[in-house]
Amino acid sequence: MEMSPKWSIIVVSICFIIIACNTTVNSFDTDLKERTCNGDTYPRGNGGGELQFECTVNRLMRYLLNFTPRNDSRWYYTVDSCYDSAESTAYGYGECTPTLSQQDCFNCMMHAHDDLFKVCTHSVGAQVRLGDCKMRYEKYDFAH
Ligand SMILES: *[C@@H]1O[C@H](CO)[C@@H](O)[C@H](O)[C@H]1NC(C)=O
Repeated sequence: MEMSPKWSIIVVSICFIIIACNTTVNSFDTDLKERTCNGDTYPRGNGGGELQFECTVNRLMRYLLNFTPRNDSRWYYTVDSCYDSAESTAYGYGECTPTLSQQDCFNCMMHAHDDLFKVCTHSVGAQVRLGDCKMRYEKYDFAH
């Protein structure tokens, strides 16, 4: 049995659509696999004024988000502090599956960042592991 040209075009088009969707949607895995939140939370500034640790955590997250994808090995570890005090010091780590492109790593880190704040809201330390990336911050230095 032969397919009419019209049907061949439709079948081929559907195949292309399926392939295109798979490669754009499923090129990396952002499912939340693991999370650990410190039960202690840090105080937050009101009226728009950030408190010390809050300031550091926010800035650290921006560093992890931006610099993890830029490191060729797709991981980044840093110590940061908005103020000159041990109280405001935080340690952060980001990592993507090394084979991820810079753009996919960034997108995965965006998901990790969102999850971190959703599932560990204002914890003094938190970590999430997604299928293809992870993110962690603590008040102390940790093995990474
Ligand atoms: C970037 O990756 C290299 C390993 O290739 C590592 O030695 C370096 O410390 C990383 N940079 C940061 C800031 O984590």
